[in-house]
Amino acid sequence: MISFQLNNSSVQVDIDPDTPLLWVVRDHFKLKGSKFGCGMGLCGACTMHVNGEAVRSCTLPISAVQGAAITSIEGLGTPDNLHPLQQAWVEYSVPQCGYCQSGQLMAASALLAKNPNPSDDDIEMAMNGNICRCGTYSKIKLAIKSGAEAMRAQGNVVEIFDPVMANKEAS
Ligand code: FES
Repeated sequence: MISFQLNNSSVQVDIDPDTPLLWVVRDHFKLKGSKFGCGMGLCGACTMHVNGEAVRSCTLPISAVQGAAITSIEGLGTPDNLHPLQQAWVEYSVPQCGYCQSGQLMAASALLAKNPNPSDDDIEMAMNGNICRCGTYSKIKLAIKSGAEAMRAQGNVVEIFDPVMANKEAS
């Protein structure tokens, strides 16, 4: 049995420990926002947060997240309470086909949690591994800057992940 936090809820799964996190979230928990792209950790469509870090869930075995805090796109915001980046994504009409966009948002939100005022270089470095076949890169950069500005204006507190607290809450 593997226990972890998924979008702030304590969950458990009894599953082959080699099963990738992406399939556990999509097939077991029926959260379909994170996408399968390359299956090799190269395109970023499957990006989720593990203890606040952007990771490729298609190559991460579920056994590696025992006790960890996972956030998928479903945990970033809700339709009634969008994350500032999601609001910026809407404002700038970022998505084209949309397939890569949950991964883009998870990578961008992990960046802003650590760096609330990223430079162009910071954004390019953080988003470098997230591929968009529709070429929405320039709009993504504008939306990240806009979302970052909105978060700073709102005085959003940068969440620092505390693995000790997460483990206490999971147990
Ligand atoms: Fe189509 Fe990025 S919006 S792949």
